[in-house]
Amino acid sequence: MSPEPDHRLLGPPHSTDSSRGNLVVQSRTGGKEAVLKVYRPRHGPLGEGLADFSQRCIEGKRGARPRRRRDTERESLEVWRVHGFDAPAVLAGEAPDWAKPHPVLWMEYLPGRTLFEYLEDPRASREERIMVLGSFAESCARRHRTAVATGETRLVQEHPSLRHVMVSGSRLATFDLENAYAAAFPVRIAVAFELSSTLRSMLRLGEGAFESFLAAYAAPEILRESLGVFFAPSLRWRIYRWLETSRRGASSKTAAMRRLAGWLGGGGPAL
Ligand SMILES: Nc1ncnc2c1ncn2[C@@H]1O[C@H](COP(=O)(O)OP(=O)(O)O)[C@@H](O)[C@H]1O
Ligand SMILES: [Mg+2]
Repeated sequence: MSPEPDHRLLGPPHSTDSSRGNLVVQSRTGGKEAVLKVYRPRHGPLGEGLADFSQRCIEGKRGARPRRRRDTERESLEVWRVHGFDAPAVLAGEAPDWAKPHPVLWMEYLPGRTLFEYLEDPRASREERIMVLGSFAESCARRHRTAVATGETRLVQEHPSLRHVMVSGSRLATFDLENAYAAAFPVRIAVAFELSSTLRSMLRLGEGAFESFLAAYAAPEILRESLGVFFAPSLRWRIYRWLETSRRGASSKTAAMRRLAGWLGGGGPAL
């Protein structure tokens, strides 16, 4: 299966086996520049079953099968936009023959660079980067507040990455929302996971990105609650932190959350 010649491949398959993993192509639908995402299995039948079981029954997520990932992505993109958070618009369109029988989703094409590429680009001035980082932090804070207030777990990124935010003109739009926490998953825990991962990315960027992000993250109660969640004294969290620190050391999420605790205790906002 290969896309037609007028389709530009954006996302190569994750797997070295070229029949597996999503295909993401740039194309057109309804006269608009668009992205077609084709959801293919990531593993063989047994692996798919296990991944799906693990997501739903152990990890508290919505499911790993292609159709489920497509439905989660479509719903999540819509939920983000309904609550005023930027994400590509879902577009109407049929599945092209070459994509069949896999589930597909058409969405708005976002020209630009990912936030990761932007922040790593030495041509952007420090001031520009701090401004963009600030607006990213501000929208994360609003989104986390909204997620906690509404209990909407689809507003939380299950796989947060600066590579999944497009700097497109004046927009900062998030994409790749095909995995999400289940509706029953505690939203505060989901937020704490996302925050710890984003703060880890900030630590890795260096150059004061961590402090710039926090200075603009205008929801101090979410920071405090997330610390409470992350450093809960339960055995489960102790094991999680221990595993995570032994794998990643100084650039772990745990290290990033410790640094957050220091920031709040020192120069951070009064809580
Ligand atoms: N709406 C979009 N506009 C522009 N580029 C996109 C869009 N969606 C995805 N991409 C590009 O395609 C790549 C793969 O898409 P992604 O949704 O992350 O797929 P996967 O779930 O397979 O990781 C992204 O890294 C990005 O470069
Ligand atoms: Mg991706």
